[in-house]
Amino acid sequence: MAPTDARDQEWWRSSVIYQIYPRSFADSNGTGVGDLRGITARLDSLADLGVDAIWLSPFYRSPQRDAGYDVSDFRDVDPLFGTLEDFDAMVARAHELGLRVVADIVPNHSSSDHPWFQAALAAAPGSPERARYMFRDGKGENGELPPNNWESVFGGPMWTRVTEADGTPGQWYLHIFDSSQPDFNWELEEVRAEFDDVLRFWLDRGVDGFRVDVAHGLIKADGLPDFVQADDEASMGGGAATQSPYWAQDGVHEVWRRWRRIVDEYDGDRILAAEAWVYPLDFMANWVRPDEMHQTFNFGYMETGWDAAALRAVIDDSIATFGAVGAPSTWVLSNHDMIRHATRLSLGEDTPQGHGVGPETPGLPDIDEGIRRARAASLLMLSLPGGAYLYQGEELGLPEAVDIPGHARQDPTWHRTEGERYGRDGCRVPLPWEADGPAYGFSPTGDAWLPQPEIYGVLARDAQLGTEGSTLEMYRAALRLRHELGLGTGAGAVTWDETPEGVLAHRVGDVHIVANVSGEPFPVEGEVLVSSHALEDGMLPKDATIWVRVPE
Ligand code: GLC
Repeated sequence: MAPTDARDQEWWRSSVIYQIYPRSFADSNGTGVGDLRGITARLDSLADLGVDAIWLSPFYRSPQRDAGYDVSDFRDVDPLFGTLEDFDAMVARAHELGLRVVADIVPNHSSSDHPWFQAALAAAPGSPERARYMFRDGKGENGELPPNNWESVFGGPMWTRVTEADGTPGQWYLHIFDSSQPDFNWELEEVRAEFDDVLRFWLDRGVDGFRVDVAHGLIKADGLPDFVQADDEASMGGGAATQSPYWAQDGVHEVWRRWRRIVDEYDGDRILAAEAWVYPLDFMANWVRPDEMHQTFNFGYMETGWDAAALRAVIDDSIATFGAVGAPSTWVLSNHDMIRHATRLSLGEDTPQGHGVGPETPGLPDIDEGIRRARAASLLMLSLPGGAYLYQGEELGLPEAVDIPGHARQDPTWHRTEGERYGRDGCRVPLPWEADGPAYGFSPTGDAWLPQPEIYGVLARDAQLGTEGSTLEMYRAALRLRHELGLGTGAGAVTWDETPEGVLAHRVGDVHIVANVSGEPFPVEGEVLVSSHALEDGMLPKDATIWVRVPE
């Protein structure tokens, strides 16, 4: 049963949801890859941290060519992560601890190992089996050219040619991502009905909602017209202005309305949260209209640099724009696709989403400086009204792992671009739980599917727990206070104080939140509730945020 308490009523409007990346959270059996039992065993520490819910990246059956976002059975757990019984036990334990559980669902594509795709390969062009995916004849005299010029998000063409059953070169299939991730044909009722059933399968098992992968994909423009994504645009980005034929087509909203009706049939206020990389925010707000999803990840906020004026603008815009459709804004700084914010906010140069950083990247920040800024950014984020998302490890201040040798890298981006883009492995490195444990407490054998940097030992959870001033203690205090003081609640605009350039200050009742982004040291008075950096002679230096109580 889902947790029930006073927060039940539309709990998602102000919740803090913690993203677990199962491969890298905790490994119970020493394979070097995290698993469900590992998660269950560590759930107490998340309840102790003070989050409301967990969102798990995919744990379904998968050949793991895109770290589980390539699903071959949507109704089973991959043996790498455990069994359905392990899943049930995990959900039961989470609910016992008052944590809701959000699953990740991946509707845009399946794995090429999925029985439907295998059947499509074996069947003839024009067959019902092929109709479930996006098969097309090639161009050129013998069909030797791809059907159009689209480029995969991970680099290289978005099409792969198959060999027909008689051994001749045949049709092409579309894959927005890796060639092992063929796109479904969402025009087909059979595909829609299949996903209705998958949703019910997990809702019946007790999940409290879904994070919906690539929620701006699924539907493609009629005729699949040629299109080139601008170089300076995030490869996942679709917007009202760019009119990409494979992102953000109107037809997706029909699907989300259908899904909303399904989750609404269940008790306990279950949610849908969209991963929709669309711009600008008022276009993104279409995903959270009252009969569609509950939340959408605010990537506009995530992609805003550490700049006071820009932050204030995106915060105001987000609250107003989502508010206009009756939805809460969300806030997020890190996830499994982005450079961790302890590195990203201090990078000398902008890096497009998904490209990652590595040893040759110019302008890599000093680690201490990066962490300091990240703490300030997190404390500002947690003061804002709406839902917040945390990504595992940010509560420890983990920076991006930069020095991963080429042979150890696993992200298909790295391989498909022949090392030109580092990809996303640097934010996916297994968590450090114990400074002195094998693989820093991640696995009993010391194995870890990606190498952990030494700094992870210093930042291990047990080294921070109970240590005054640690990042973990800052998050614990902030989450407790946020809840007690109702900081995330209230849909109204943020009331900003007059402040000098580079400083942001707002208040919620008698609590004043001051973020000195890049300004001169700024005087702060009042009872200190939590801070990312201690006051220096009553002044808040730059790259620091503080919450104080000032009697009215
Ligand atoms: C989403 C996921 C990403 C994955 C992609 C393809 O963007 O967050 O990790 O590679 O979808 O499923």
